[in-house]
Amino acid sequence: MPTSHMEDYLERMYRLIEEKGFARAVDIAEALEIRPSSVTHMLQRLAEKGYVRYEKYRGVQLTTAGRKIGRKMAERHRDLTRLLRLLGVRDENIIFEDVEGIEHHLSSESMQRIRALVQYAEAHPEWWAQLLDDS
Ligand code: CO
Repeated sequence: MPTSHMEDYLERMYRLIEEKGFARAVDIAEALEIRPSSVTHMLQRLAEKGYVRYEKYRGVQLTTAGRKIGRKMAERHRDLTRLLRLLGVRDENIIFEDVEGIEHHLSSESMQRIRALVQYAEAHPEWWAQLLDDS
């Protein structure tokens, strides 16, 4: 099982690769707002666990296992963000910080139920607005 910290790295790498096609240590450091030397250290740990292949001159590649976790975290991040927006949280910084915390600690069953709620609420905006007004 990867730690929350590892999940954050894999999530960020997955997004960088989706957006730019590659993830260099310097880009990961910038995205996570940490020093490149910490990134290098973490990438070595992720490589030992089999989540990334660290290729010195070609940047970092996710393995199949690493990509699976990165995608899972990116999808959780997106869907939990939708939930908090639906609930009426307006401050995007608060949403981001809360989602970064919650995304690591939900079972897949709970996550599945949250997704079902989000989808239903987005498909029935009037029903949802009524519910929020009443609460
Ligand atoms: Co996240």
